[in-house]
Amino acid sequence: MSTLKIGLFGCGCVGGGLYEVLNQTRQLPAVIHKIVVKDPSKKRQVPSSLISFHKEEILDDPAIDIVVELINDSDAAYHIVCDALKKGKHVVSANKKLIAEHLDELILLAKSNGVSFLYEGAVGGSIPVIRNLEEYYNNDTLSSIEGIINGTTNFILTKGNEGIGYAEALAEAQLKGFAEADPTLDVDGFDAKFKLVLLLKHAFGLTTTPDEVFNTGIRHIKQQDIAFAREKGYRIKLIGHGHKLPSGVAGFVAPQFIKNQHPAYFVDNEFNAIIVQAAFADKQLFIGKGAGSFPTASAVLSDISAIQYQYQYEYRKSDTPTNKLTPDFHLHAYIGSASLDDVHSVPMDVTDSVFSSKEYSYKTGQISFQQLRKTDWLEQKQLSLILLPQGIVS
Ligand SMILES: NC(=O)c1ccc[n+]([C@@H]2O[C@H](COP(=O)([O-])OP(=O)(O)OC[C@H]3O[C@@H](n4cnc5c(N)ncnc54)[C@H](OP(=O)(O)O)[C@@H]3O)[C@@H](O)[C@H]2O)c1
Repeated sequence: MSTLKIGLFGCGCVGGGLYEVLNQTRQLPAVIHKIVVKDPSKKRQVPSSLISFHKEEILDDPAIDIVVELINDSDAAYHIVCDALKKGKHVVSANKKLIAEHLDELILLAKSNGVSFLYEGAVGGSIPVIRNLEEYYNNDTLSSIEGIINGTTNFILTKGNEGIGYAEALAEAQLKGFAEADPTLDVDGFDAKFKLVLLLKHAFGLTTTPDEVFNTGIRHIKQQDIAFAREKGYRIKLIGHGHKLPSGVAGFVAPQFIKNQHPAYFVDNEFNAIIVQAAFADKQLFIGKGAGSFPTASAVLSDISAIQYQYQYEYRKSDTPTNKLTPDFHLHAYIGSASLDDVHSVPMDVTDSVFSSKEYSYKTGQISFQQLRKTDWLEQKQLSLILLPQGIVS
């Protein structure tokens, strides 16, 4: 077997991890030929002979077979990935934002140039979910895929369940390198949404974009909401949902109270959990580190290894008739706020309970998803929206 030559873009958390992991994986015939990074003033752990600051040194080098794109700038990554595919190089990426925003275009580019485009590291870090959806569940009809697909928010919520406030938990997540200086993409559910777009494609053959998928995050969850959870024996988790309904697929990201029977109840800190419900295989749970240098690099390594035997995703579920998103369902939800008027301003089709005290108020009931996604009262009034354990009412 000939040795694959890799051109690596990015040598930060994941790229640096990949360099280490490849050095320790002698049995894989693949070597890093060149590493392109951005900042010439940075000290590096890798030999300086490998480093370049010019993307052409990878893209125009005919000796390089695979481009591994691990940079933290999705616009620059888009151009790198497109150029690499057009030049007939296989591409491995972990950039969920880039892939979710341009998936069909990139699939087409890879196909028309006869190369592989793989991205296991983009969803669930070390969890091998994309290849399982492609291969293992290829002939099994899935009715749902859901789970914790953002490690940062799971870390913050875990600390919340231990009594630590949002700001303190976020600061700790940033200190540990789980959260970016600007945590918006994580805490507001965007990162989970990018990953959900990829899961929906591989689980249901559903083509969608981040703009079409509703997300709300954990920013407005308050101590009183956590106290409510504790009193009921629930935990709060940010869940990416994909459920097949008669009218299509319900796909969205929102926090949810879950009970201790839920498979993700005990999945804490930066761990991710993905639950697949299949017609024949029934319910299955995947757990693993959803982020971090070596866990993510291990998924990238697995993609590089798969390219060694010409592996490509087939997207075989893309022709199924239910491959569209539906807004036609209701959610069991909890709405909390310091103001009872604000709580009452949220239109619910069925109200199950209302609680009000001087400090805090909430109500629970059923809300139409159509209503939920077209209003901006969540942000304006900084309300807590948390799904109840029953989740979807179809
Ligand atoms: N970190 C995780 O746990 C994790 C998990 C799953 C997926 N991912 C994804 O993996 C990718 C990399 O994340 P990371 O955490 O490794 O990022 P990171 O630690 O911030 O490192 C980013 C790297 O990209 C380089 N870079 C930025 N712009 C560049 C450009 N235009 N050309 C060449 N190099 C450029 C930087 O160069 P300098 O070194 O010169 O600054 C740096 O080496 C992202 O798409 C991220 O979403 C990360």
